[in-house]
Amino acid sequence: MISELSNPSVCMRDPQRVQEILQCMLKAGSNTLQVISDFDMTLTRFAFNGKRCPTCHNILDNSKLISQECKGKLKDLLNTYYPIEIDSSRSIAEKLPLMVEWWTKAHELLVQQKIRKDLLATVVRESDAKLREGYQLFFSHLHQHSIPLLIFSAGIGDILEEVIHQAGVFHPNVKVFSNYMDFDQAGVLRAFKGELIHIYNKREGALLNTGHFQELRARPNVLLLGDSLGDLTMADGVHDMENVLKIGFLIDKVEERKQSYLDSYDIVLVKDETLDVANAVLLYLTGNK
Ligand code: TMP
Ligand code: MG
Repeated sequence: MISELSNPSVCMRDPQRVQEILQCMLKAGSNTLQVISDFDMTLTRFAFNGKRCPTCHNILDNSKLISQECKGKLKDLLNTYYPIEIDSSRSIAEKLPLMVEWWTKAHELLVQQKIRKDLLATVVRESDAKLREGYQLFFSHLHQHSIPLLIFSAGIGDILEEVIHQAGVFHPNVKVFSNYMDFDQAGVLRAFKGELIHIYNKREGALLNTGHFQELRARPNVLLLGDSLGDLTMADGVHDMENVLKIGFLIDKVEERKQSYLDSYDIVLVKDETLDVANAVLLYLTGNK
């Protein structure tokens, strides 16, 4: 049906079920579809030429806006908490307070750095941020078919928006839920706004934004893209959901995590740095137009 589903990177626990969901969604029509995607390591690449690509936080952490001393502390946090984030031997309940700890400590350090809003665009331009191969088609196809795309990220909204703006794909159908910076009158970072979004509370974040999902209530079919098990709850605010197709990217610690990903995502893309499968699904759901 979709030849890309035979790509070597594609793993499915129940291919028949995937076909059924796709057929239901095709029948319902693309005017009933919405896309909800994570950002870091889902819309962006994990690595390029053997080198890790930065998350929103890393873009700032590695920049000239952060002192050497602070860079060291942020790196220590990453080295402590990232292995916990991807540790398949610990439950989400066990990891959750540790993730809150990571985000809280990282944000406190960033706030101490007196980061200037007017320098964020330069920092993003000078960074190694990389959207996945096929991103132009992904964003332009959704835009062309007026399919809403929600980017739901535990990263930093201001940085994320700058990345997609500089890539020329921040079209009007794109909406972002994320952690936004709060600047003082002089344009210096003083805090982060609102409730913290971390990797395991996207459900709560979704439920806080009922207005968005209310507006999209005529679109009960969802294509969800993520790279963490925490991303599975991003669609929990969707009204009267009819079908959801979940695509998960798995690049790091593949063997340890593969079974849990297969159990939760309909399609698991192993070591795939492209958006080819998501694009093929979208093309199929829009009648290949
Ligand atoms: P996402 O929801 O867009 O994927 O963003 C969350 C990612 O951000 C998650 O994989 C961990 C990463 N992260 C950092 O790289 N550095 C940090 O300081 C923090 C708090 C998170
Ligand atoms: Mg992610």
